[in-house]
Amino acid sequence: MSRSTKSVAIVGAGLIGAAWAIVFARAGWNVRLYDVASGQTARAVEWISQRLSDLQSFSLLRDPPSVILDRIVCSPSLAEAVNGVAYVQESVLERTDVKRQTFSDLEGLLPHGALVGSSSSGIPASAYTEHVSFRSRCLVAHPVNPPYLIPVVELVPAPWTAEATVMAVRKIMLDVGQRPVSLSREIEGFILNRLQGVLLMECWKLVEEGISSVEDIDATVSHGLGLRWSFMGPFETIDLNAPGGVADYAARLGKLYHSIAASRDHHAVWSGDLVERVEGQRRRILPENGLKDRSAWRDRRLMALARDREAHASGAKTLDIQMISLDSDWQ
Ligand SMILES: NC(=O)c1ccc[n+]([C@@H]2O[C@H](COP(=O)([O-])OP(=O)(O)OC[C@H]3O[C@@H](n4cnc5c(N)ncnc54)[C@H](O)[C@@H]3O)[C@@H](O)[C@H]2O)c1
Repeated sequence: MSRSTKSVAIVGAGLIGAAWAIVFARAGWNVRLYDVASGQTARAVEWISQRLSDLQSFSLLRDPPSVILDRIVCSPSLAEAVNGVAYVQESVLERTDVKRQTFSDLEGLLPHGALVGSSSSGIPASAYTEHVSFRSRCLVAHPVNPPYLIPVVELVPAPWTAEATVMAVRKIMLDVGQRPVSLSREIEGFILNRLQGVLLMECWKLVEEGISSVEDIDATVSHGLGLRWSFMGPFETIDLNAPGGVADYAARLGKLYHSIAASRDHHAVWSGDLVERVEGQRRRILPENGLKDRSAWRDRRLMALARDREAHASGAKTLDIQMISLDSDWQ
């Protein structure tokens, strides 16, 4: 993609839209921010400026914050925002009617060939793009909050999304440093929330049955499973947890997992009583007035982790080069 085509319109400048602006501008893209609410884009730019300072303090920016900020322009209208852009990242409210209207509004404004990714957390693109003439150029590109620290983006095509659209949005996401993952078709919750949902279901159940506390269940992830999961997925994890790899693991432990699954009714609802119990335990660990500070602490931890991953990635590249030169020494 040439430099002149690296322009994106972000429609909806709330939490996620502003975060997307960081992702694109940090990667050298020109960003146009648009929001229906008056004053919202200016508030977003203020917020972005603070986040860029934080990122700089963790050495996570290649360019100075002022240079990155200069790439972001607030557009007074949707027409001006999308004029000449290669890509639109729709980030309006998670409501079918609002998204549907936004896609209608793009009709006649979207440049020829421009693609539209929706940040939708759960509403499939088929629910709000069927009626537009450019529907083959639309799909869900679902980020995880905050996308400038957590790179995965789920690409979910509607039944009418062109294969070329998926491929091109995949390339755009790689270009801006994200890690796209592809789904072959729409499914509720996409991948990430389905995985999180299964784990959460068991967490609630273990509390409901009095097997363990909220604190200890969380520790099982933060001091256990999660340590590996920050750099490898569950399949790679089990591949390395049996001497013969994943098939060996399935042979050794498959029965245990089948038995656990058979013992559970995964349709169990999170009852009001149960939510109150979990809420009570959480508030004893972290009072409500500490939530904001703890969220800022989480973001700083994510920044430290991102810095470590970057250092590791460049270390791994150096290692690859050393391995290549070692290989050539052998030839
Ligand atoms: N918050 C998260 O953790 C998260 C994570 C991943 C995806 N998402 C998804 O991202 C999208 C945005 O979520 P958010 O958390 O940023 O919400 P938000 O409420 O912070 O921001 C939404 C913004 O859209 C604006 N808006 C509404 N209608 C508009 C229109 N027609 N044109 C332009 N702007 C319009 C609103 O004024 C608001 O500023 C949703 O689909 C949400 O599900 C959110």
